[in-house]
Amino acid sequence: MNQDTQDLLTRIGPGTGMGALLRRYWHPVAGSAELAPGEARKVRLLGEDLALFRTASGRLGLLEESCPHRRASLAYGEVDGETILCPYHGWTFAADGRCLAMPAESEQKPALLARCRATAYRAEELGGLIFAYLGPEPVPLLPRWDLLVWPDGLRDIGRALIPCNWLQIMENSVDPTHVEWLHGRHLAWVRGRKGLPAPTHYRRHQVRIGFDTFPYGIIKRRVLEGGSEADDDWHIGHPLLFPLMVRVGAGQQHRLQIRVPVDDTHTLHFWYACYRPKPGQPPPAQRRIPVYDIPWQDEHGDFITDFVDGGDIMAWVTQGPIADRTREQLVASDAGIALYRRMLLDEMRRSEAGEDPLGVVRDPESNRIIELPQERNKLGGGKSFLREAVGMSHVRYSPILHEITALLEGA
Ligand code: FES
Ligand SMILES: [Fe+2]
Repeated sequence: MNQDTQDLLTRIGPGTGMGALLRRYWHPVAGSAELAPGEARKVRLLGEDLALFRTASGRLGLLEESCPHRRASLAYGEVDGETILCPYHGWTFAADGRCLAMPAESEQKPALLARCRATAYRAEELGGLIFAYLGPEPVPLLPRWDLLVWPDGLRDIGRALIPCNWLQIMENSVDPTHVEWLHGRHLAWVRGRKGLPAPTHYRRHQVRIGFDTFPYGIIKRRVLEGGSEADDDWHIGHPLLFPLMVRVGAGQQHRLQIRVPVDDTHTLHFWYACYRPKPGQPPPAQRRIPVYDIPWQDEHGDFITDFVDGGDIMAWVTQGPIADRTREQLVASDAGIALYRRMLLDEMRRSEAGEDPLGVVRDPESNRIIELPQERNKLGGGKSFLREAVGMSHVRYSPILHEITALLEGA
């Protein structure tokens, strides 16, 4: 890859081609539980600094962080009723950006107020996440992925800010062979040196991998040694949801790994999980979906690699702030990566031509719930895979680990 293509693929700030493509989609920026009525916080998305707030009545506001007056931060503003007040001189803004008052001016001239509107974006919440849309009108629907809307789920949201570009994290999701190496062999080695049990299912050798496109992205498939195309791993597989999510899980576990480009060299990673009861089991009662931080560095600043996701994070970050694709050697087993990159470039061109890119949802009927394929019996591991996936993954840090285990064990 030459440097120009690498820059085109990875750079996402305002005015870039990839930034324009990614602005056609909704992205989560915070958990609903992190923003009570009357609170404001700073968020950064696609290289833009923003102030997110929730009014007294619960309405979300998302404004450019810098106040139109003299650029102080609205993220430190006071939420007053349905408005937010800039901390510096009290200019008062509605959630849609209208400037309603300039308290230090003796006269509130309507033309001046109109000129001093704050740049406002759209924010909506679903399934315990607050999503933002920074793109052009008409605003597409916020996709109602099945695990965000099922009424009977137990949910939690893990999160980490990863100091590298989003593309190398997404490329990991079309790289099935890394599972048997990084999460099979390497994880076994790391855990063995700590006297911890080794993974078993992740180590199974993949004799064939395959990728198909579908209306929301790419379906990934694999055949394991000793298995066949009739197994769930091939016959159902699981999807990469274009552009920035992957759906993974097994049995009652359903997850979205969501990669949110904060800027060119930082990615906010969400591990969104929904655990469903078995038929006949009572649905769990949950009032609030917790958000928790996933640690990936120890007290010396070294990577924590004795769990699945810690290994992934180590691989992503060590590829560099922006992995240098002018110096990589793609081989046959990187077919999924090549497909995803082509898809990004194709969809960028479509979007530039004024069309909706892949996976943009506008039809309310099909958006009532978008059911996605996901293998049930993953890696042929049955329930033992579920246990391994909980014990050796980020789930070990969940504040509701006890409830998750009880639900999966049918207790
Ligand atoms: S900088 Fe915001 S009111 Fe002055
Ligand atoms: Fe991985």
